[in-house]
Amino acid sequence: MSTGFVIAIVVVAAIVFGAIVVFTSARSTDVRGAGALSRETRSRDRKAKVGATATTGREVEASARTTDLVKAAPVEIAPFVAPDEEALGVSRRMFFNRTAVTLMGASIGAFGASVLAFLWKGADGGFGSKISAGKVDDIVANIRANKGFYYLAEARAWITEYPKASIGKAQAVYGSQAPVFAGMQAGIVALYQKCPHLGCRVPECKSSQWFECQCHGSQYNRVGEKKGGPAPRGMDRFAVSVSNGQLTIDTGAVFAGPAVGVNTTGQEAEGPHCVGAGGH
Ligand code: FES
Repeated sequence: MSTGFVIAIVVVAAIVFGAIVVFTSARSTDVRGAGALSRETRSRDRKAKVGATATTGREVEASARTTDLVKAAPVEIAPFVAPDEEALGVSRRMFFNRTAVTLMGASIGAFGASVLAFLWKGADGGFGSKISAGKVDDIVANIRANKGFYYLAEARAWITEYPKASIGKAQAVYGSQAPVFAGMQAGIVALYQKCPHLGCRVPECKSSQWFECQCHGSQYNRVGEKKGGPAPRGMDRFAVSVSNGQLTIDTGAVFAGPAVGVNTTGQEAEGPHCVGAGGH
């Protein structure tokens, strides 16, 4: 390809490019910036008629200024009437408020009823009331069948036999506790299971035939008289009554156990101890 031919092609291309630029520039002169109207638009505007008589903007504005305004018809304002709450019904807030108050009242009521039921000792025959323990003969049979001890859970009491041979000594010690002594005369004693030291439940020890507390080692003979350990006295006991051979234990009447050193029965350990080696 000769140099002259290349130059000719470049010149032709430049001429074509220049023509394109000139044609595009000529088209862009139809719109002169924002708001300018094109030639077609101006032509259309000249042909259009605004209103019946107005042909210019000023005439249009003058025509608008002389046009009568349409006045709105007067409206009568109704007086305010408060809505009827019954007609409106219960709002969501009212519903939640009433529900909360109802539930709170029910909870407090149930709690109060529970407290009253708990404090109302004797109403249902539970601990704190008089409990029918059955026939004395049957109880003694149960004591012997259980190797010296009979536990009555409802009364939280141990029932053991009181030897008739010791009644004379018992009267000197327990004579002032008539409801306790009455049980001894009938051949039994009802001991509160609670240790007078710090309140542990005192279990029986069948090998020694004593009561021996596993908390700190207090020991009591079979009728609840202290034999060893840190307890300040013998086991507390309940008032009892015997009517027509039926034993009633009044768990609402607790008498303090005998002083340390009281030993009306003279019963010593009859075998190995369950706690310690004979006392602390
Ligand atoms: S509670 Fe029984 S010996 Fe301490």
